[in-house]
Amino acid sequence: MSGSPQNGDARRDARVDMRSDTVTKPTPAMLEAMLTAEVGDDVFGDDPTVKLLQEEVAARLGKAAALYVPSGTMSNQLALKSQTSPGDQVVLEDGAHIYRYEGGGPGMLSGVQLTCVPTADGLLAWEMIEAVLNPDNVHYAPPSLVCLENTHNRAGGRILPQDEVVRIGEQVHARGLRLHLDGARLWHAHVATGTSLAELAAPFDTVSVCFSKGLGAPVGSVLVGDEETIAKALRYRKIFGGGMRQVGILAAGCRYALNHHLQRLQEDHDRARALAEGLDHPQLAVNHPVDTNIVIVDVLPAAGDTSLLAHLEAQGILAVGFGPGRVRLIPNLENSPADVKLAIAALNNWTGSNQ
Ligand SMILES: Cc1ncc(COP(=O)(O)O)c(C=O)c1O
Repeated sequence: MSGSPQNGDARRDARVDMRSDTVTKPTPAMLEAMLTAEVGDDVFGDDPTVKLLQEEVAARLGKAAALYVPSGTMSNQLALKSQTSPGDQVVLEDGAHIYRYEGGGPGMLSGVQLTCVPTADGLLAWEMIEAVLNPDNVHYAPPSLVCLENTHNRAGGRILPQDEVVRIGEQVHARGLRLHLDGARLWHAHVATGTSLAELAAPFDTVSVCFSKGLGAPVGSVLVGDEETIAKALRYRKIFGGGMRQVGILAAGCRYALNHHLQRLQEDHDRARALAEGLDHPQLAVNHPVDTNIVIVDVLPAAGDTSLLAHLEAQGILAVGFGPGRVRLIPNLENSPADVKLAIAALNNWTGSNQ
């Protein structure tokens, strides 16, 4: 989830913004790359910077084709639209961004029926998917697509175990189904594990990656896959209103982010871990392994507590509410090591639940 419906507008004087890794602003060097980008009309396929970005991302992820789109939401929705027919069953984990935070897009745009599988930790195993796949029988929606999310945002930036992802890919394909990855933060899994992007992407037919989270570009995502699927997605991108003209200005920011901000994600991971480890409060706990850049703090035992978020904001620390009694913080490109210390101090000096 990006933004903060619970917080409203960010306070202007906030010292530390950890609501999301989407709050970053372009650096001067990124802006320079954007200002000097070569551009053309991308709806005519004439924008050289967009073409370069698409080629680079397809190559890094080991896929034949790529499409630049305005957002991760559009990228995911194009993947669904291009690989399903109305009435199909799509299977995904219950906390998946595609299900939780994309405005009901799968129903509205693709007319598909979602089957959401609850897990304790966001990590689907093949048997959990197999158990919900509809049989070939006229009473049921025919399955066509399975979606995974790596890293898993709502599960606290968890990295999916690659051997299980490979297994899921084999089983899904053996049944003639397709596999999509919401890889908004696949970069983080790559940097944290050292596994190449191509290897992480290999089990999937389509992968969506985002440049506006973590990597610090202002706008844009890319959907990669085979030529035929991406050609379909191109058509639907136009229909969804995502065909943009001299958009190389934005694509240049993404190219800059990919070439300069990828490895520094490790700093965000280190800061997230420091934040979780610095927590020293009887009523606060981080109940997930901090694999990457996301920290979800639970208020104990009062589920439903809302005072922590307000307390943090009063201390100049912006976070987001992530369900009852739960707050999410994401160290990002805008933060310094000192900001992490301020966030830890603000968490630890909370006077406790008001429930
Ligand atoms: C896992 C995940 N997928 C998709 C998206 C959607 O991206 P966008 O906000 O660019 O539409 C987000 C946004 O934060 C996300 O966290």
